[in-house]
Amino acid sequence: MDHIKLDKDTITKAYARWAPVYDLVFGPVFERGRAVAIAAAERVGGRILEVGVGTGISLPDYNRTTQLCGVDISAPMLQKAAERVRALGLTNVEGLFVMDAEKLEFPDASFDVVMAQYVVTTVPNPEATLNEFARVLKPGGEIILLSRVGAELGLRRSLEKWFAPAARKLGWRTEFAFERYTTWVERNGTVYLIERRAVPPFGHFSLIRFGKNVGAERVSASKSAAG
Ligand SMILES: C[S@@+](CC[C@H](N)C(=O)[O-])C[C@H]1O[C@@H](n2cnc3c(N)ncnc32)[C@H](O)[C@@H]1O
Repeated sequence: MDHIKLDKDTITKAYARWAPVYDLVFGPVFERGRAVAIAAAERVGGRILEVGVGTGISLPDYNRTTQLCGVDISAPMLQKAAERVRALGLTNVEGLFVMDAEKLEFPDASFDVVMAQYVVTTVPNPEATLNEFARVLKPGGEIILLSRVGAELGLRRSLEKWFAPAARKLGWRTEFAFERYTTWVERNGTVYLIERRAVPPFGHFSLIRFGKNVGAERVSASKSAAG
């Protein structure tokens, strides 16, 4: 259940405010998680889409031969990413586009990896967003997420509930049960869970990987043919 609703207006306003200071606040704290996610993505290789690429803070951490494409709903965040790409000469970044994760403007099966670092809890409709990730992913490819998973019980759960309205104004949810992912996998029907692993800081965040079934194109084609 989504107790805390986020809308696109709140998000774009929040990240326009974050853009000038984002790297200072969220750079070092998320560094180790990013390294783990990027290593997983580069094991798959091929063409990688980073959704919610933000200021492009992760882009220099990829191998310079890794083909990357980035999208974000916030133009001020993406502007920072474009400056970084230019300053560092990241010629492996093929493009940066202002785009809504819920309506990706790419054909089906365009990417070998869809990466989203600290994004899924910030989008208004996480399940619709995950469906888009699965759609643009090639069969045999991987969705790789770094995300905060909410506590199921105890003091942390109470604190998360208490902090939820303030977090919404800052541009994310504190409550997000892992069950949402398992329910989404069942409903989507083209993907399976590969792993969930705690990553720093504080063990509140996880690396979550999904694979797309080989033959998933046939499954979705027959689903849409059946209406
Ligand atoms: C917490 S930041 C993470 C940025 C970056 N991935 C990182 O690791 O630092 C969340 C990002 O998701 C973006 N975002 C939120 N909702 C989005 C949407 N519907 N479509 C695309 N990007 C979105 C925000 O603009 C912001 O840049």
